[in-house]
Formats: sequence, C-alpha cells, structure tokens
Amino acid sequence: MSATSAFSAQASTGQPQSQKVTRVLTGITTTGTPHLGNYVGAIKPAIEASLDPNVESFYFLADLHALIKCQDPKRVQESRLEIAATWLALGLDTDNATFYRQSDIPEIPELTWMLSCVCAKGLMNRAHAYKAAVAENEEADNQDPDKGVTMGLFGYPVLMAADILMFNANKVPVGRDQIQHIEMARDMAGRFNHLYKGSFFSLPEAVVDEKVQVLNGLDGRKMSKSYNNTIPLFVAEKKLLKLVRKIKTNSLEPGEPKDPDTCTLFQIYSAFASAEDTQAMREEYAAGIGWGDAKNRVFEYLNEHLREPRERYLALLEDPAHIEAVLQKGAEKARAQAAPLMDRLRTAAGLGRFI
Ligand code: TRP
Repeated sequence: MSATSAFSAQASTGQPQSQKVTRVLTGITTTGTPHLGNYVGAIKPAIEASLDPNVESFYFLADLHALIKCQDPKRVQESRLEIAATWLALGLDTDNATFYRQSDIPEIPELTWMLSCVCAKGLMNRAHAYKAAVAENEEADNQDPDKGVTMGLFGYPVLMAADILMFNANKVPVGRDQIQHIEMARDMAGRFNHLYKGSFFSLPEAVVDEKVQVLNGLDGRKMSKSYNNTIPLFVAEKKLLKLVRKIKTNSLEPGEPKDPDTCTLFQIYSAFASAEDTQAMREEYAAGIGWGDAKNRVFEYLNEHLREPRERYLALLEDPAHIEAVLQKGAEKARAQAAPLMDRLRTAAGLGRFI
C-alpha cells in the first residue's frame, strides 16, 4: 500500500479553517457477522486508507442505525462485538484512526434532532429505503402505504447526515445504494449553514471506489446477508471448507476447459490471491482443473490467509474488556471533536447558555 490513497485529494468546499487534512468517515451497521464480501468491499480498503498520513479516518459502529432493522438485542450486541473484533484483528490502527460506537456519542442524536428541524419532510419521502417500503405495501394492496414504517426508518438519512456532519467528513466511502444519503446530508448541511448564517458544516462527498470488487456469494449472486449466501470471514476451518465446497459451479467435467471470468470460485480466489497466483489459477482453468481440486485449492488459500487474523479475532472475542477499552478511548477522541461543534450549533440555534 502506498502512503497516499484515493481519498487524499484536495478537501471539498466549506472546509473549516482549522482542518488541514481530508477526513474520511464511514459507518458499519451492526446487524450481521462480517463476511468475505464485507472484507473485500469495505474493511480492507478502509484499513488501508487509514494508513495514509494525509487522511484522518473516522470509522464507527452504526449501532443506532442497527435498531431500525433489528430489534433482537442479542443479535445487535453480538454483532457490535464481532464487527469491532474483526476490524481490530485485521489490523486497524486505532491510534491513527478514530474508531468508536455511534451510541457512545450523545452529540449525534442531538444533531439528528437539529437537522430534522431543517430537513424538509419531502426530501425524506424520496429516500430509497422508505420508497421501497411504500412500494411493497402498495403491491400487497395494503390500505396503509406506511404500514410497518417506523419514524426510525423514515428519518434514517437524517441520522446518517448527523454521523457525517458531526465530524465534518469530506469523503464518505459507501456502496452505490448509499449515494443518495450523502446527497441528502449535503442538502441538510447547506440548509443549516444558510439558515444560521455560518460555515458550520463541510459538504461531504460520496466515494464509490470502482476498483473495489463486489464479491459474489455461494449461489453466484452478490454476497449479502439478505441472500443468505455469505461466507463469514472467520468461520472455523472445517466450516470454511464446507462453505467453499458449496460455491455454485457448473457441470463441466475434469479435463474440460473452464471459464474463470464467469466463475464465483475464481472471483473469490482472485480477490485474495496475488496477481501471479491468480494468473496461475487462470491457466489451471484453461487446462481443465476439476471443480473438486479447484475448491480445495481455494480453501487452502483462504485458510492460509485468514488463519492469523482468525486467531487474533478469537482471542479478542475472549477479551471484551479490551475491546470496550479501545472503543471508550475512541469515543473520547470522537467527542473531543463533536462536543465543541455541538456547542457552536446550540449557540447558533439559540440554545446557548445565558452566561
Ligand atoms: N447506512 C450505512 C449502510 O447501511 C451505514 C452508515 C450509517 C453510514 N451511518 C453512516 C455510512 C455514515 C457512511 C457514513 O451501509
């Protein structure tokens, strides 16, 4: 990894004077167990970006967001621990990056309220997640188009805007489905700045990295918890073998040449392997490697690469006190940024102290 990344370009408009480096921020909703697709698509690039000295990174567990779609406390609690342990096991340097839990920063829900009061309801009506819920109700001929829609779901983009604006993030690495939310955050930032006559907030930009791979899952569709086709990043060795064997292939026999470019197994392999090893595997496909052999090779490769971080991960899960301490320290660092800005915002809105 070079010392600069895609993120270290000139910061965007509205940058407060005191802030010299580009701020990169992203949140991970804590409802699932990290899988290979999360690793390749989000975790690995984020950890690498955090090594760039021209970048200040903020990564957080979006556990308030988790409550929107998951009301199983055990799952939320487990997922928070698993995700934190995963990022730490993979080498996130928490002296360098600010790593925290959203729910440890009371300024975030406070800012959410302030933004709610400048955010047009009509803007939220256009949010994808809400529109999808309404469309589903209409399709099912439900009397109430808002059936099952909570205020949490409806206002989801406001909470997300608060996450971003609270730390004056310039760049927000996200998947395509989240671009609209960043645009909404810009809209809210602009309105607030205009209404209260100040440059309180930078205008964030979404960063969608075209080079980052979207990994396919066991059934060949995009690897995703909602398709139930994932390979968890740190499953036990035996289970990993079992899952790799389940990856869908075709009925070509050993000896018949196979096409790597339409093959999920190859795609997963190449996301981890070096260019050289990927090329060698490509040649094996052309020479007609059998699916059983190919799967064993992919398993061996993944297992080799995941062994060490898996050991660290398991050790971390055994030591929640350590994880808690790391996150508390992260929250302190984050609040040192959030609290002074929140004071300015309160004063701007007429909620300042009397003396
Ligand atoms: N909504 C994002 C997702 O589902 C997670 C998220 C919450 C987030 N707050 C954020 C991402 C702020 C970027 C910035 O993927």
